[in-house]
Amino acid sequence: MVSLTIEGRPVTVPDGMSILEAAKTAGVLVPHYCYHPGLPVAGVCRMCLVEVEKMPKLAPACATSVMEGQVVHVHSPKALEARKGVLEFLLINHPLDCPICDQAGECELQDYTFAEGRADSRYREPKRFNPVEDFGGDVLYVQNRCILCTRCVRFMSDVADEPVLNVSERGDRAFIGKAEGHDLTNPWAGNVIDLCPVGALLSKDFLNKARAWELDRAPTVCTGCSQGCNAVVETRDNVPVRLKPRPNDAVNQYYMCEVGRQSYREFARRDRADQPLVRINGTLTEVDWEDAVTAAVGALSGKRVVVLASPNLSNEALFLLERLVAQLNGQGVFRVARGETVPLPGVADLALREERAANAAGARLLGFAEVTTVGSALRHDDALLVVGDALDGVTPSELAALSSLVFVGTTIPTAVAERAVAVLPITNTVEEEGTFTNLRGRVQRFLQGRTAPGVARPSWFVLTDLLAATGGAAEFHLPADVFAAMVSTHQAFAGLDYESLGMHGLPVLASETATAGAAI
Ligand code: SF4
Ligand code: SF4
Ligand code: FES
Repeated sequence: MVSLTIEGRPVTVPDGMSILEAAKTAGVLVPHYCYHPGLPVAGVCRMCLVEVEKMPKLAPACATSVMEGQVVHVHSPKALEARKGVLEFLLINHPLDCPICDQAGECELQDYTFAEGRADSRYREPKRFNPVEDFGGDVLYVQNRCILCTRCVRFMSDVADEPVLNVSERGDRAFIGKAEGHDLTNPWAGNVIDLCPVGALLSKDFLNKARAWELDRAPTVCTGCSQGCNAVVETRDNVPVRLKPRPNDAVNQYYMCEVGRQSYREFARRDRADQPLVRINGTLTEVDWEDAVTAAVGALSGKRVVVLASPNLSNEALFLLERLVAQLNGQGVFRVARGETVPLPGVADLALREERAANAAGARLLGFAEVTTVGSALRHDDALLVVGDALDGVTPSELAALSSLVFVGTTIPTAVAERAVAVLPITNTVEEEGTFTNLRGRVQRFLQGRTAPGVARPSWFVLTDLLAATGGAAEFHLPADVFAAMVSTHQAFAGLDYESLGMHGLPVLASETATAGAAI
């Protein structure tokens, strides 16, 4: 360990750490562009210059290791003057596009210029102009705004292991070039948009959709696969418009894949079930919640019940559903959509996983059995309770053999519209609070990011009502209460609570993790 002083604050950090990282531990931000903790150090932008006592020249904080007894001044007049010069240099050609640039409000050039830059420009010459280039995939390159920090180049070569980007030309003609015949179609390429500190790399999908300050943000967990990448859901006027990665060293570092990014669309669907419905004289008719719950329980009672649960339901919902299965003397099953596994080579244990659902591990831990087809679980005259599943691939003859169908979900599949006795509308992941268990057995929380449509209710809330209506003792007022009940009855989750999970999650008991992992 090494002890030093940064801006008058004593810190002790591991040997070999950079001054920039050490300053973070002291709560001091050293401005930087080319440095990113997930990328190899390049030391090209010079924005991180700091004054170190007894060193003859200013030092780049990202590329200088800490030394015992060092005294570092981040905001000394000499360091500030140097960084002011760097900013003036960057702004020689950078267009002041802020009013139309998608990055406005979250641009590091804007932020540092505001904090440390000159109030005026000494340049009267016209700025360089280059056309916008389509980099393929979801990425646009606005060369005029590029400050050549090379983060995008290093991500593609060192992390994605597909070196399609490079610095072409030199001096004031330099720009980010794309290898001949290649596009940014790598399944992880969208991360260059987040990594770009300015508005030079933009998402076509998000282009002109919102300004940063119009967005509301909530921490969530991606439901695209069983990896459980930590993410932030951003909404504008209550409509989800973007998912961005939320750093978590134990799961996804700073990244997320394209499948995950695009999954926000599912949360923004407009064809939502938003009123409880009961079939009256052959037609699904709006009723109040009490009547819908009564009709649902009536349709399930006295029959052999198969409960088809979505592996994207929260642990809390699955726990209550497991109790409902027991109460109804039923059988709990789930299906998982599968796809290709696509690793991100530069990050150990990060991949778009084969299982395209967030909580298959949770479903297994909570007693649900995986089936490949719904038909394999069904017998003639069964009642089917569907919770969250889209019912794809269920044949008309399988449906015709059912004695009743009850649906608890977010959007109504055709088969449900034609056959269901009752429909209970629930919220989707970004409209409720809960936890998922990822493929390594890590339990992670997600928070509510927008309000529910109509009178749709959180899944745990609806399942609590169903449980109570079937005679099961259940009184829960918050998802945390459900979680606590689950922890007290399931050894695998022992010792966990919302507070200790925080927003980065914790693994379930080691032995159970191994079991859950093996099953996957
Ligand atoms: S495009 Fe962005 S990330 Fe890439 S070098 Fe330019 S400023 Fe840096
Ligand atoms: S790897 Fe899986 S969890 Fe992560 S962003 Fe992609 S789909 Fe989402
Ligand atoms: S952040 Fe240190 S030189 Fe760029």
